[in-house]
Amino acid sequence: MRIAVTGGAGYIGSHVALALLQEGHEVIIIDNLSNSSALSLQRISLLAGRSAVFYQTDIRDSEALRRILRQHQVEALLHFAGLKSVGASVSDPLSYYDNNVQGSLRLLQVLQELDLRQLIFSSSATVYGPQQAAPFAEDAALAPSNPYGHSKLMVEQMLRDLCAADARWRVAILRYFNPAGAHPSGLIGEVPRGIPNNLMPYALGVLSGRYPQLRIFGQDYPTPDGTGVRDYIHVMDLSSGHVAALRQLQHRAGCHVFNLGTGRPYSVLDVVDAFQKVSGRALPYVLLPRRPGDVAASYADPRLAEQALAWRAERSLEMMCADAWNFTEHNPDGY
Ligand code: NAD
Ligand code: WQD
Repeated sequence: MRIAVTGGAGYIGSHVALALLQEGHEVIIIDNLSNSSALSLQRISLLAGRSAVFYQTDIRDSEALRRILRQHQVEALLHFAGLKSVGASVSDPLSYYDNNVQGSLRLLQVLQELDLRQLIFSSSATVYGPQQAAPFAEDAALAPSNPYGHSKLMVEQMLRDLCAADARWRVAILRYFNPAGAHPSGLIGEVPRGIPNNLMPYALGVLSGRYPQLRIFGQDYPTPDGTGVRDYIHVMDLSSGHVAALRQLQHRAGCHVFNLGTGRPYSVLDVVDAFQKVSGRALPYVLLPRRPGDVAASYADPRLAEQALAWRAERSLEMMCADAWNFTEHNPDGY
């Protein structure tokens, strides 16, 4: 198929673009590089043995989008482009509504105009909100607690409304839990800009000597060791989840929502142990009070995706940590 990938130079999009190339698809990447480097695209070419077509373009530029999608006669689009920092969305909400909501709206308008009605959207477990008790199934109440989460839920709603209005749409909304890890080659992975807020990239920064110690936020949660538990999922499993969802859309119209997670919760201390084990290095940490806005436990009920997509996340926490560390060791300054 001819498949467009918005945000394909970024962390998750680059892994999925590679998987699509390896499946034999023609891949057209649209990314404004606001949070990524075009070097990731060179690495993808190296790994796949052939290249994606790349346009440095903003998804809010309807004219350019129309031209690109028409020129390549795109048949399906995977929509990763957007901003993803919860903290930044609280301090600058309008840029989140602009990039994530307005960007997606413009994109959908162009898709409708071009009769291109096959789409996979990157949503997030953050739409479940803090009141829910894990594990989260797809029909749990949706109540995000920050502008980033609101922006994801708004796009989900647009997609549900579109599918209700026109039965020709084929849409998969994928709610990722906590993506982690990197391609096992060490050639592509996550490159945070600035000081990371998330556990995995910060822990990698400590392991590589960039930061003196990990700050563990909260030791009194009602979890087995008192630290927060999450559903970390290997980015390679996420990739195969997208390939499975795309396959499923070929014979199922409508709007389908799937959690992409392992269903297995791991604590912050489990992550520390796994990193120490795979790196052979000490990961010093300090225990601090809870981080505002955090929940004790967030993990998926992954059964719907397992049944409907015949897909399952297979890689362990140790593999996530080993592959992430391998990428960081080989690319200490990013791409
Ligand atoms: P990322 O920042 O690495 O990738 C996003 C890409 O989109 C970047 O390459 C960026 O340059 C591009 N982009 C941003 N705004 C754009 C715009 N207006 N026009 C064109 N390109 C634009 O992030 P990621 O971790 O790969 O996340 C991909 C998607 O998955 C995002 O939509 C994110 O919200 C979602 N998601 C991520 C996580 C996570 O923890 N990484 C979890 C759940 C959902
Ligand atoms: C995980 C655990 C922290 C950093 C976020 C977004 C979510 C999604 C994934 C995009 C928690 C603890 C963290 C640190 C720590 N992204 N922690 N020290 O908050 O589950 O999810 O990323 O959609 O929307 O909210 O991920 O990695 O920040 O935290 O102790 O330096 O690690 O308290 O228990 P989170 P995280």
